[in-house]
Amino acid sequence: MGEALAIGLAYLLGSISFSFWITKILRGTDIRTQGSGNAGATNMLRTVGKGPALAVFLLDMVKGMVAVGLAWVLTGEPTWMMSAGIAAIVGHNWPIFLGFRGGKGIATTIGVTALLTLTAALVAGAVAIFAILITRYVSLGSLLFAAGLPIAIFLFDYPTSYVYLSFVITVMAFIRHSANIKRLLQGTESKLGAKS
Ligand code: G3P
Repeated sequence: MGEALAIGLAYLLGSISFSFWITKILRGTDIRTQGSGNAGATNMLRTVGKGPALAVFLLDMVKGMVAVGLAWVLTGEPTWMMSAGIAAIVGHNWPIFLGFRGGKGIATTIGVTALLTLTAALVAGAVAIFAILITRYVSLGSLLFAAGLPIAIFLFDYPTSYVYLSFVITVMAFIRHSANIKRLLQGTESKLGAKS
């Protein structure tokens, strides 16, 4: 019972799209019709501004953390905590409140993994930040972060269930970044700092 509640609440929490609502409040527009069309912090930076983008990044991260925290209270089980984190990412990517069109889940993934697998998140995050600094492609950094997570989680001896569950996160990130992957391969992906 606690498990189902944890997953359900995490999904609903993840479905709160801060980029959508903050853009709606500040600009009266739908962020999903601007820039890359993604409801996330990178697109906020591109289309709205630095402050709102930072706020969205932090709020999206915190919702992943809260989902994990709720699962800890409701189940006390590491596997369910990671599963609730995944449910929050699913909610962020496919939000029930916005016709299942949301973001790409990276900030929420950072929140989830910072709580459950901090060392692995830091290592995968360092690789991602390095890639972004060199190439200025946020999407490439996001993909490297997502791909690196299961490897780092495995290498740092976290519970085996975390390795499998983090692989689900990787697959979701790649699915949500399919348009970015296409643009990266074609050399048309927009760089950090470039206006839409
Ligand atoms: O985390 C999202 C980022 O990797 C890509 O965002 O707006 O460039 O598609 P965007």
